[in-house]
Amino acid sequence: MSDLVSLTKDGDIAVITINNPPVNAMSPGVPEGILASVQAAEKDSAIKGMVLIGGGRTFIAGADIKEFGKITAGQKDRKLGIHPILAVIENCAKPIVCAIHGTAFGGGLETAMACHYRVAVPSALVGQPECKLGIIPGAAGTQRLPRLAGVAVAAEMCAFGDPVPAPKALEAGIIDKLIEGDLLAGAVAFAREKAASGKPPRKTCDQTDKISNAQENETALAAARANVKKRSRNLLAPRKAVDAVEAATKLPFEQGIAKEAELFNDCLFSDQSKALIHVFFGERAVAKVPGIAKDQALIPIKRAAVVGGGTMGGGITMNYANAGIPVLFKEISQEALDRGLGIIKKNYAATVAKGRLTQKQMDERLALIEPVLSFDRFKEADIVTEAVFEEMALKKKVFAELDKVTRPDAILASNTSTLNVNEIASATSRPAQVIGHHYFSPANVMRVIEVVRGDKSSDAVIATSMALSKKLSKVGILVGNCRGFVGNRMFHCYQREAQFLAEEGATIEQIDGALYEFGMAMGPLAVGDLAGLDVGWRIRKEYKHLEPAGIRQPEVADQLCEQGRYGQKTGAGWYKYDLPNRTPIADPAVQKIIEETAAKAGIKRRTISSEEILERTLYALVNEGATILAEGIALRAVDIDMLYILGYGFPAFRGGPMWYADTVGLKKVYDKVCEFEKQHGSLWEPSPLLKELATSGKTFADFDKTKES
Ligand code: 3HC
Ligand code: NAI
Repeated sequence: MSDLVSLTKDGDIAVITINNPPVNAMSPGVPEGILASVQAAEKDSAIKGMVLIGGGRTFIAGADIKEFGKITAGQKDRKLGIHPILAVIENCAKPIVCAIHGTAFGGGLETAMACHYRVAVPSALVGQPECKLGIIPGAAGTQRLPRLAGVAVAAEMCAFGDPVPAPKALEAGIIDKLIEGDLLAGAVAFAREKAASGKPPRKTCDQTDKISNAQENETALAAARANVKKRSRNLLAPRKAVDAVEAATKLPFEQGIAKEAELFNDCLFSDQSKALIHVFFGERAVAKVPGIAKDQALIPIKRAAVVGGGTMGGGITMNYANAGIPVLFKEISQEALDRGLGIIKKNYAATVAKGRLTQKQMDERLALIEPVLSFDRFKEADIVTEAVFEEMALKKKVFAELDKVTRPDAILASNTSTLNVNEIASATSRPAQVIGHHYFSPANVMRVIEVVRGDKSSDAVIATSMALSKKLSKVGILVGNCRGFVGNRMFHCYQREAQFLAEEGATIEQIDGALYEFGMAMGPLAVGDLAGLDVGWRIRKEYKHLEPAGIRQPEVADQLCEQGRYGQKTGAGWYKYDLPNRTPIADPAVQKIIEETAAKAGIKRRTISSEEILERTLYALVNEGATILAEGIALRAVDIDMLYILGYGFPAFRGGPMWYADTVGLKKVYDKVCEFEKQHGSLWEPSPLLKELATSGKTFADFDKTKES
C-alpha cells in the first residue's frame, strides 16, 4: 500500500502491517495507509477478515508527538482528522482483529479499540499515556475505553496514563484473547474464526452495558476526581480526562467525541502540554552528547564494585543489582557492612511488602550483592563507584588505592556532590578512566545521574556512563566539572535567596508554601531539613577560604547547625519534627533566631509577597543556569531542565527552570534580575547570555537549537 503500511494476504485474511520504525507512531501517512488498506481489503471479495499488526518491535506507540508542536504553532490543522478513519475501521463489514505486541499506547490503543477485536501477546502493554504529555486521548479513547472496560478503569487509565499489562487488560475487557506463541498466526486464526461465525463484527461504539449504571458511574467518577486531586496537584489534563470519560456516560458516542475534542484542544494549547512535550523529548535529547560519535565503542560493564556503604553507596549498589549486574559492596568495618546491607535488605523487603517485587526477585538481587572488607577481588570489576565521605583527602586516598587494585581499563567513578573531579582523578595514573557519577538521594529511587566529565575523561568512559545510566533505569545528564556541578551550583543560589527572604521578612512557611504552590515537590527550606543542614554547613566550612569578602552570606542555617538543628535527622532544623512523624511544624524558636540575625546584620524586615518569593528564588536559578550554559558546563538548557525535574522536584508541567523562563519571557526575567542587582548587589549580576538572549528577543530553546549536532 505504501512504505508505511503494507497489505498482504494469508489465505482469506488480509494482513495490514504498519512499518514506521522505531515505534510505529501514527505519523502522517500511517492513518491514511491503514485506511487505504482497509478499504482495499473490504472491496476484495476473496478476503473474509483482516488483521492489523505492527512491524518491528511494537504495535503503534501513539500519535506522532512531533506533530503536536506543528498544530500549536499554527502550521497544521487543529482537527486531528483521525476520527473518520477510525469510523471506517469500525464500520467495516468484515471483522478486523488488532494484534498487539510491544506497546499499544495513546492513538495506538485508540486505533486498536476501533477494531472489532483485540488479541495480544502476554508481554504487551496497553495504555493512554497522553496525560503525561499534558493532553488527553484525542482519538475517542475517552469514549471507547469506558465502553470496553467501565468507567473506573477508563478514568484511571486516561487520568494517570500508567501502562496496563496484557493479562490485566484481558480481565478488564480491553483485549479479547492472549496469544501464546506466534502472534500473527494466532490473530489470523482468530479473524478467520470470527469471519466464519457469520455474526456482524462487534463495534465498540455500540457497546453500552459497562456504562449503563448511572449510580456506579457517579461513584467511579467521584473516586477518580478525588484521586486526581490527591495525585495530580496543579495538573490540567488529568481533570479534563475524567471530564471526557464522564461525557462517555452522559452523551451519545458522536457528541462524546465532540466533547473530547474540545477538552483535548484546551489541553493541547496549554503551557502545561507544551512543557510536558518538551520534557518527553528532553529526556531523550540529553542522552545524545554532541561531539561523541553515535557508534563510540563502549566499555562492557559485567561486574561492578561500590566503595562506601552509607546512604548513597547502599542505593547505588541496589541500582546495579536491580539491573542484574553483580556488585562488590565494600565498607571499612564489619559493623558498617552489616548496617549498610541491613538497610538494603529493609528497602527490598518494603518493596516486596508493597507487592512491587516478589520474594524470589528480592533474593536474586541480594545474591548479586557481595559484601567485602578488602579490595582483594576488585580486579574483577569493570567499574567502581566511590561513595565515601565528602572529603577531598579521603577521596584521593581511596582513588590512589583503587588505581592499584583495579584493572587499568576499569572505570573509576566518584559520587561526589561538590568536589573537583579533576583533582580526584589526579590521584590516579589514569585520569581518562575517571568520571563523576553524581546520584541523587535516595539513589535507588531518584531517576537521574549527573555525569561529571573531568578534563581528561575519555569519550569511551563518557559514552559508557551515559549508556550505563539507561541500563540502571536512570537518565544520565552530562555536565562539566565545577564547584557543585550544574545541579548543586544552581541550587545553592536558589536556597541562598530563600534564606535571604527569610532574613528580610518572609516566614519560612510562606517561602516553602509559595514554591510548593508553584509546583515544587517541597519548599527549599523543607528540602534543607530533609537532606540535612549539616551537609551544607560542612561544605561551607571546607570552602570558606574561597568566599570573596564583603559578599552577603545567609547566616541562619549555620546558626541552626551550631545549635544541633541538622534537620529531620535531629528532629529540628528550619522546622521542628515530632519524630518519627516527619511532618514539618513551624517553630517560633527559629523565627526568633532569624529576627535576631536580621537585626544584627542591620537588615530591615518588611512584608514580602509570594510573587517576590518566586521571582527571587526561580530567577536566581535561571540567572546561574544561563552562566553555566555560557561556560559550557551544561551542554544545553534542556539538560538543566531535565536535571531539575528529575533531581530537584521541579514541576515537569513547568518544563524545568530554563523552559519556565522562556514561558515567562526572557526580557521580563532579565529586567527583574537587573532590578534585583540594583537592590541586592553583585550576587544578582545578570548573566551575559541571559542579557544577550533577552535583548535579542530569543529564548533558551533558541540557544539549544544552535547546539544541535
Ligand atoms: N511520537 C514521536 N516519536 C516518538 C513517539 C511518539 N509517540 N514515541 C517514541 N518516539 C521516538 C522517541 O523520541 C525516540 O526518538 P529518538 O531515537 O530520536 O530519541 C524513539 O522514538 C524511540 O523511543 P524511546 O527511546 O522512548 O524508546 P523506548 O523503547 O525506550 O520506549 C515507548 C518506547 C515505550 C513507546 C516510549 O517511546 C513511549 O512511551 N513513547 C510515547 C508514547 C506516548 O506517549 N503515546 C501517546 C502519544 S499522544 C497520542 O497518542 C494522542 C492521541 O490520543 C491522539
Ligand atoms: P555516609 O556517611 O552515609 O556514608 C559514607 C560511608 O563511607 C560510611 O558508611 C563510611 O563507613 C564509608 N567509608 C568511609 N571511608 C571508607 C573507605 N575508605 N572505604 C570504604 N568505605 C568507607 O555518606 P553519604 O551520604 O552516603 O555520602 C557519600 C558520598 O555521596 C559523598 O561524597 C556525598 O557528597 C555524596 N552524595 C551524598 C548525597 C546525600 O544526599 N547524602 C547525595 C549525592 C551525593
